[in-house]
Amino acid sequence: MSACESRTIWWDGGLWMIDQTRLPGELLSIRIRSVRELIEAIKSLRVRGAPALGAAGAYGIALAAQLSRTGNTYEMRQELEQAKEMIKGSRPTAVNLSWGVDRALRAVEDQETVEEIQEAALREAEAVAEEDVRTNKALGKAGSRLLEDGDCVLTHCNAGRLACVGWGTALGVIRSAVEAGKDISVYACETRPLNQGSRLTAWELAQDGIPVTLICESMSGSLMRKGRIDKAIVGADRITRDVVFNKIGTYNHAVLARYHKVPFYVAAPLSTFDLAHAEEDIVVEERDPDEICLQGEVRLAPEGIEVYNPAFDATPLDLVSALITEKGVFRPPLMPPI
Ligand code: MRU
Repeated sequence: MSACESRTIWWDGGLWMIDQTRLPGELLSIRIRSVRELIEAIKSLRVRGAPALGAAGAYGIALAAQLSRTGNTYEMRQELEQAKEMIKGSRPTAVNLSWGVDRALRAVEDQETVEEIQEAALREAEAVAEEDVRTNKALGKAGSRLLEDGDCVLTHCNAGRLACVGWGTALGVIRSAVEAGKDISVYACETRPLNQGSRLTAWELAQDGIPVTLICESMSGSLMRKGRIDKAIVGADRITRDVVFNKIGTYNHAVLARYHKVPFYVAAPLSTFDLAHAEEDIVVEERDPDEICLQGEVRLAPEGIEVYNPAFDATPLDLVSALITEKGVFRPPLMPPI
């Protein structure tokens, strides 16, 4: 395994990522050789999770610049514009994807030669990736103070190192608390239909030796009622001025947590905040019905059945006990300065 493989996405003479669709069976690194391949990887969730998508967006612009065969900057900028539209359009909800693309493009604005554009785009993508790990460690440390020794924490989907470049957001908070010597155990929701919880979160935590119990999301209410969940922590795909968008099912946990007086925390970097927009402005990605109707080759539902398969839901901020960021912990309606 190369040194880079402790990251989810990285540059090593080209763009590489862990293929998350192969986990937990196989830890496989794949090379992405074109913007088209990157789009496929994003759409099929080989790379996924908001902060990892931010890095993928920035690296996507760097890749487009490296692959450009034109000798003039005007044409190259046109190619980068095309790449921008394709990458941004591949998944609409997580704001980090557009944020990463825009950061790399801003970095090339003042460059005067083709080589300078290539270098600046890659430098910025590497900076996005480096910052991601630093940011997650900072938010992890800030959030770890909210966890007490012996806490049992519910999480949903995967907001771990696989969803980022490294360390993780929700799982970063848990990792930081464990690093600080606290005894923390986790209930990981399997997260239908694509099972990021069972395939990725359970795998990541087991790798780190953090006690984890896998549950179906429908079990969280009953566990809260029995007093077996002390806190819930999730990540976010986009935080607007009124709601948190995160993996479908998050809202259910937040409502249940409020009813059972369980603190409900959202851990996310500032790059996930989009305070210029409100819930109604945001497109929620709807995915292929087969994700619900098929399990591999096995059909779980009648052929042709009507299916609704949104990837994300929105949780109003008044159900969120605190937002955990690299700038500290903010209790809504208080928001971090952006
Ligand atoms: O569809 P996915 O797997 O990309 O959804 C990911 C999530 O919903 C995560 O919870 C979110 O991106 C936060 S990741 C730190």
